[in-house]
Amino acid sequence: MCGIIGYCGPRPAAALLAEGLKRLEHKGYDSAGLATADGGTLTVVKRKGKIAGLLEILPPDLGGSYGIAHTRWATHGEVSDINAHPHVNCAGDIAVVHNGIIENFTALKEKLQSEGHVFRSETDTEVIPHLISSFYEGDLEGAVKKTLPLLTGTYGLVCVHAREPDRLVGARNGSPMLLGVGDDEMFIASDLTAIVTHTKQVVYLEDGEVVVATPRGYHTTDMRNRVVDKKVEFVGWELEAIEKEGFSHFMEKEIFEQPQSILRAMQGRIDHENSTARLGGLNMTNRELLDVERVKIIAAGTSYHAGLLASYLMEMVARVPCSAELASELRYRNPIVERDALYFAVSQSGETVDTLYAMRELQRKGARVLGICNAVGSTIPRESDGGVYIHSGPEIAIASTKAFTSQMTVFYLFTLLVARMRNMSIEGGKEFIENLGRLPDLVQTVFGQKEHIRRLAKKYCRYKDFLFLGRGLNYPVALEGALKLKEVSYVHAEGYSAAELKHGPIALINDETPCVFLVPDDALRGKVVSNMKEVKARSGRVIAVCVEGDQEVMDVADDVIPIPKVGELMYPFMMVVPLQLFAYHTALELGRDVDQPRNLTKSVTVE
Ligand code: G6P
Repeated sequence: MCGIIGYCGPRPAAALLAEGLKRLEHKGYDSAGLATADGGTLTVVKRKGKIAGLLEILPPDLGGSYGIAHTRWATHGEVSDINAHPHVNCAGDIAVVHNGIIENFTALKEKLQSEGHVFRSETDTEVIPHLISSFYEGDLEGAVKKTLPLLTGTYGLVCVHAREPDRLVGARNGSPMLLGVGDDEMFIASDLTAIVTHTKQVVYLEDGEVVVATPRGYHTTDMRNRVVDKKVEFVGWELEAIEKEGFSHFMEKEIFEQPQSILRAMQGRIDHENSTARLGGLNMTNRELLDVERVKIIAAGTSYHAGLLASYLMEMVARVPCSAELASELRYRNPIVERDALYFAVSQSGETVDTLYAMRELQRKGARVLGICNAVGSTIPRESDGGVYIHSGPEIAIASTKAFTSQMTVFYLFTLLVARMRNMSIEGGKEFIENLGRLPDLVQTVFGQKEHIRRLAKKYCRYKDFLFLGRGLNYPVALEGALKLKEVSYVHAEGYSAAELKHGPIALINDETPCVFLVPDDALRGKVVSNMKEVKARSGRVIAVCVEGDQEVMDVADDVIPIPKVGELMYPFMMVVPLQLFAYHTALELGRDVDQPRNLTKSVTVE
């Protein structure tokens, strides 16, 4: 949601915090601010709008060797300078940055106001510095520990006191926080991206933990002041992973990275000798896997589309009943947990609250939930009963692209594993593996269409409504194509099964509603082509993603995006990449902020 970074050490804090904020901008970008302390005085600078705006007003001589910073995705209180973080107490000597929501802030605020505290903002966060100051007796850590039990809701927070030099106090309850251990310097942040250029040694906080960091060291305790020994973990990221590396946008870079990210998701996970997959992280024996009678997948957004695709694939290939559901819906319908079901929580960030809470609800009911996540050390993988990392590397653009195809890849591997235990022969497994192995090169060939897709985006960007239509495995891809276009270009788009066209959406068809059809040469091709003809018969416009040389489709469609012929199961990979590029170029044509589209955030840690 929002992004947080705190620093203490020998270097000027303001510059480090500013750099950290830039790296966190994908976490929230409606306003930003920072506070540094120097000579017993706190200076707070904050501003509505993008981080560049904050940097413009940052005094060049802003001193201080410790401080905190925040980039916001508003929840309580409009987007304004005043509502931006950090927030301070009346005396202005305690500053706090916070992710999450304090649900009981109204009651706390009223009580504090009755005691004479004066509030400046409309945020829930502001109660925190006021509460800390009410308990403060020369010890920030102690005052924070008295404050936290009074807060209902979620938080990841860091605070500083003007007269406790070089000391950061951080805490976590439901919102990720980590400590970066440098050489004579420390960071506390919500995300690795904020600190990984400075240190790769990281301590992940758990819910209910408090960390106190100074340049010389740190200690972690629980709320009852019992020491918690934490393991320092090493982050294997290279700097390039969080740089644009010559691309104009992170979204473009991440689309073009897919041949490598798909490969990374597969690496070390294929057992050629036995024509199956090796997924040790599942923490399940073959016997336990054999006992699985059904698979259920929960997720949100793009991850849900990957789960939906997996539900088709599992049933087709492994003959195991499988369904996908929006985590937000599952959580509140008192789900029935079946003994023989295996659950997957899919999440790029590993922090999406809808998915996390649904997972916890399932676990409470006794379910075994495995995670399929990207962010290493994030909450879902830590709390799940096992799982698989997709190893996409950091995904910085808000619109998810490479994580989607890597989630798919992992589900293909899981399907292979389960299918080989059931109905798939060694030969079948070998063919499946060969098809998977060809994917990185095949996806690469789709990039040859980049210029053509750019021209199509230019041609079609003036339209206000799009339909994306696919069937079978490519139905979830149609949903994903529509979501991508909405997210980054703000153009209205709906994804449908092509078969559903006649059950309502066909009423929308006229020459102002382009339809993007996904037409692989699979068993349903003929039916999809008929749907295309129905659209053409009603003066609709058709863009078809189809197999190169498919003359019938070329004759019907206004425009085609040709893709190579591949095995039937592999089309979703080939189909989604052109749709990602189409969304990207449409957004560019319309002058949108591609990497940071309005109102969105990379990981949604509130409900
Ligand atoms: C947000 C992001 C989407 C993402 C969804 C689920 O809405 O903007 O891009 O698909 O959350 O995120 P997750 O991290 O759980 O995959």
